[in-house]
Amino acid sequence: MRVISAVFLAASLTTAVHGCTTIIAGRLATADGSVMCTHSNDGEGETDPRLVYVPAADYPPGTMRPVFWSPELYPRYVGSARNISAYAPVDGQTPLEPIGYIEQVAHTYSYMEETYGTINEHQVGIGESTCSGVFSAKALGHGGQALFSVDTLTQLAMERTNSSRAAVELMGRMAEAHGFYGQDDSFEGGAESLLVTDPHEGWIFHILSDPTKKSAIWAAQRVPDDHIGVVANAFVIRDLDPNDKANFLFSQSVYDVAQAQGWWRPDHGLLDFAGIYSDGEYAHKYYSGRRVWGVYHLLAPSLRLSPDYEEYLKSRPYPVTAKPDKKVSVADLADVHRSYYEGTQFDQTVSIAAGPFGTPDHVASGPASGSNVTGNWERTIGLWRTSDTTIVQSRSWLPNAVGGVLWYGPHAAPYTLFVPFACGMTSLPASTLGFQAKLDKGSLYWGVRYLANLVQLKRNLAVKDVVKLQQDMMTKSLNMQASVDAMAGSVGAPLDPTPIYLEHARELLAALWGATDALMFKYADGWVNEYTPQGNFKSSTVPAPDWWLRAVNYTGGPPPVPPRPHRE
Ligand SMILES: *[C@@H]1O[C@H](CO)[C@@H](O)[C@H](O)[C@H]1NC(C)=O
Ligand SMILES: *[C@@H]1O[C@H](CO)[C@@H](O)[C@H](O)[C@H]1NC(C)=O
Ligand SMILES: *[C@@H]1O[C@H](CO)[C@@H](O)[C@H](O)[C@H]1NC(C)=O
Ligand SMILES: *[C@@H]1O[C@H](CO)[C@@H](O)[C@H](O)[C@H]1NC(C)=O
Repeated sequence: MRVISAVFLAASLTTAVHGCTTIIAGRLATADGSVMCTHSNDGEGETDPRLVYVPAADYPPGTMRPVFWSPELYPRYVGSARNISAYAPVDGQTPLEPIGYIEQVAHTYSYMEETYGTINEHQVGIGESTCSGVFSAKALGHGGQALFSVDTLTQLAMERTNSSRAAVELMGRMAEAHGFYGQDDSFEGGAESLLVTDPHEGWIFHILSDPTKKSAIWAAQRVPDDHIGVVANAFVIRDLDPNDKANFLFSQSVYDVAQAQGWWRPDHGLLDFAGIYSDGEYAHKYYSGRRVWGVYHLLAPSLRLSPDYEEYLKSRPYPVTAKPDKKVSVADLADVHRSYYEGTQFDQTVSIAAGPFGTPDHVASGPASGSNVTGNWERTIGLWRTSDTTIVQSRSWLPNAVGGVLWYGPHAAPYTLFVPFACGMTSLPASTLGFQAKLDKGSLYWGVRYLANLVQLKRNLAVKDVVKLQQDMMTKSLNMQASVDAMAGSVGAPLDPTPIYLEHARELLAALWGATDALMFKYADGWVNEYTPQGNFKSSTVPAPDWWLRAVNYTGGPPPVPPRPHRE
């Protein structure tokens, strides 16, 4: 397993353009009063797609908590120290050694984690997006002195806090005390952003190393209750108001470092956090801004934001947060994560690059992939290389156990089914595991991966079957959730949501594989195949569009048969 990971790593490090899209919505910006945050884990194919359950635990005084390095690829952790069976060493894997220790607390809360802690039993939710930053640092034991990755900070927030504000303060304080390191020790990926929610409010949190490389600089801004916000691999927090403690939290280093570097003075007025500490978009122009525009274009079209700008930091093209035109639902956010900018001038389903059957899934190109041609594809929100997408929903009017729901969308959002899990569950099904090097029909990740690849046979037609499945399963999930909510509200004793949610996940897994079989038959071999009565079937042809045939010189192919020679 390690060998396979190493090969993936070697192939991808040169292009290491991790990217994640995250969206947050305050309680008055959602249709039902939920606070929500989302996250698409857009790695480079090697990202660990597993969702695991981390049980609550009690510790005697004096216990130390080990801290591990975060490889951010499969397997993200190996060993027994975290007491999670999915991470037990297999096939000769070597357990990770801690890079340091901190004092453990008496009790840690239960939570669910993918690469990052995602929701805990108190409905605290997190969505992550890697950002550029002007400082970066390396980990202890890996050439540096910083103890915490963003992965570990999110785990600590899950283990130790019961509100978004407490989570932000804990992560900031811990990183200041022990150091923060980013995914890469370079401007690309040196910094991090988290959207942090609870049943009442949500925060945008940004963090990077400080120049000593063993502490941190961080700031957080509260999202107005009737607003949504978007972070897509670039900081968004701009003017920090140090006197507005209800809406801004930050480290003193924000001011000290900026002043020491000569980047800000008190007489400059409010400090522009992104303006000073972000290094702008990475990968290429519009890599971040286009997605931010894309989300607002779908959810707040009346803002009429321009998709164009000169430079992302300098131009400040988009607001930090904004009021959506219509209150958003879980299904709305799922759809936004599937967007290829359909119907706009950036629509990736209708170009010669999309081929005759309109696929927007443009795979890696450019010199790092072995091509001589430089260029870039439009960075869409929906993306073929996503390992998983999460939507966290926190609801203040319900008991925590059922109020907090993680909608887990394995593999790429455009093709995924979002499978709900209540935060009070005491286990997760084995179907939330999965390893990209080992096909496993018991895995939701593999079911969606299978579907996403079969769709490519005739993408423009097959995606309609997928959308129908997604809509039917979303309705089924919402109905199941509503019935559990009703039970939780009516019974006096706390309701254990585990059995009902597990059974529901089992049904979605079955529906997913059923859909792959149906797609395989329907679009096999370039036909569209249908069963007909009396056990027969009909295969129809679906020609490529005229414009595409002309564009690829179909008209210049072999000519018609010339007149036959006269036989004398
Ligand atoms: C490990 O987890 C199991 C159940 O998940 C629990 O019973 C056990 O007490 C845990 N062990 C430690 C050392 O926390
Ligand atoms: C939340 O955590 C704080 C600080 O640890 C604690 O005082 C409070 O009782 C907790 N609230 C709930 C509802 O658990
Ligand atoms: C890149 O250019 C070199 C030199 O012209 C050529 O040998 C090679 O095949 C090209 N690679 C691709 C992928 O076209
Ligand atoms: C199209 O095909 C014809 C006939 O083979 C050829 O002469 C022409 O150059 C081709 N055009 C393009 C754009 O490839």
